[in-house]
Amino acid sequence: MQAVILVGGKGTRLRPLTADRPKPIVPIVDRPFLAYALEWVARHGMTDVVLCCGFRSDAVVEAIGDGSRFGVHVTWVFEPEPRGTAGALKMAEEHLQERFVLLNGDVLTDMDLSAQIRAHEATGARATLGLVPVEDPTAYGLVRLDDRDRVTGFLEKPKPEEIDTDLISAGAYVLDRDVLDLIPAGREVSIEREVWPRLVGEGLHGFVHRGAYWMDIGTPQRYVQGVADVLAGRVRSAVVDRLAGGPVHPAADVHATATVAPDALVEAGARVGAGAVIGSGSVVAAHAVVEAGSRLERAILLPGARVAEHAELRECVVGQDATVGAGCRVGDHLILADGALVEAGTQLAGATVATAQA
Ligand code: GDD
Ligand code: MG
Repeated sequence: MQAVILVGGKGTRLRPLTADRPKPIVPIVDRPFLAYALEWVARHGMTDVVLCCGFRSDAVVEAIGDGSRFGVHVTWVFEPEPRGTAGALKMAEEHLQERFVLLNGDVLTDMDLSAQIRAHEATGARATLGLVPVEDPTAYGLVRLDDRDRVTGFLEKPKPEEIDTDLISAGAYVLDRDVLDLIPAGREVSIEREVWPRLVGEGLHGFVHRGAYWMDIGTPQRYVQGVADVLAGRVRSAVVDRLAGGPVHPAADVHATATVAPDALVEAGARVGAGAVIGSGSVVAAHAVVEAGSRLERAILLPGARVAEHAELRECVVGQDATVGAGCRVGDHLILADGALVEAGTQLAGATVATAQA
C-alpha cells in the first residue's frame, strides 16, 4: 500500500529550532524527524510514499532526497500556497492508488498501521481513522464511536463542555480513493472540518490503537521528551537497533573518567572531557564538545555545539555551533539558537529563549 504524508507545517512553537529548518527535518537523536515516519511506514510494507509539502520544501527535499536512505521511494508534491490538510491531498490526486494511508507528518509514533489497514478491509469502510486516547482532547480532533467502531461524531478542537470521550484522531487514516471526490480542487480545504464531518454515517470508521506510543513533538517540552523516549526505546524506531552497540560512537572521544548513560548518545567526532556526565536522554551530536566536569540530563547538543567546564544542562537544546560558557546552568526546556553564545556563569533556568548573538 501507498503512504501519503502531510508535511506542510511551520513548527512555530519550536523556534528557534525551526527558525532555519522546517519542523519535518528537525533532528531527533541522529536523524531528521521525518525519517521516523518514513522508517515506520516502511516497516509496515509501505515503500511508495508521497510527500505533500509546502513551507520551506527545498530544505526537506535536501534532507530526504529520494527516500532510499530510509527504505522508501518518495514522490514529491508541492503546493503553490498552503492548501490545508485535504487540499494538499487533493493536489496529490494523480499519484494516488485505489486505497492508501494518509498521515499527519508531525507525530512520533509506532502505531500498528498494518492492524488498522486490516480493520479497514474487514469493515468495508471508506475511511478509517486511527485513534488514540489522550488526557486532554481540546487540541485535537475528538472522535465519537458506536459499538461497532463507526464514527458518530467528529469535533475538531472540541470545547471542554463537548468532551465525552478520551479518543482523538491520531492523524493516521486509511482511505479509499473515492474520498477525494468530497474535496473541491483549487482552494484550501481542511480534511478535519470539511471532509470527516461529511463522512460521519457514510462509511467513516475508527480503529483504536491501544498501548502504542504517540506524541506530537511540537513544543520544546515534548521535543525533549520525544528524544528521550527514542533513546530509551519507548517508541519503536531504527535508533534502538543502532544503540544496541552502545551509546558512544567509535569515532567519539570520551575521557576515561567521563560517564555516559546507556540511553544517551555521543556521536562521531564529539568530545567529552574528564569527569563529565552525559545523563539519560542526552545527545552530544557530531563534533559537539562537553568540557570537563559538565553534566547533561536530557540535554540535546546539536552538531558543533560546545559546553564549557562545569556547566549543568537539564531538559534543554543547544543549537548548532552554539556555546554555553563555563559554570552556566541551563534548563526549563530552553532552546538556544544556532550560533548562540551564553556567557560563563549565566543561569538560564526559567528564561524563555536565547537568541543568536549578532
Ligand atoms: N502540505 C500541507 N499543506 N500540510 C499541511 C497543511 C497544508 O496546508 N496544513 C497542515 N499540514 C500538515 C501539518 O504539517 C501536520 O503534519 C498535519 O498536516 C496536521 O496539521 P496540524 O496543523 O499539525 O494540525 P493539528 O495538530 O492542529 O491537528 C491535526 O492533528 C491532530 C493529531 O495530532 C488534526 O488532524 C487533528 O484532528 C488530530 O487530532
Ligand atoms: Mg499537529
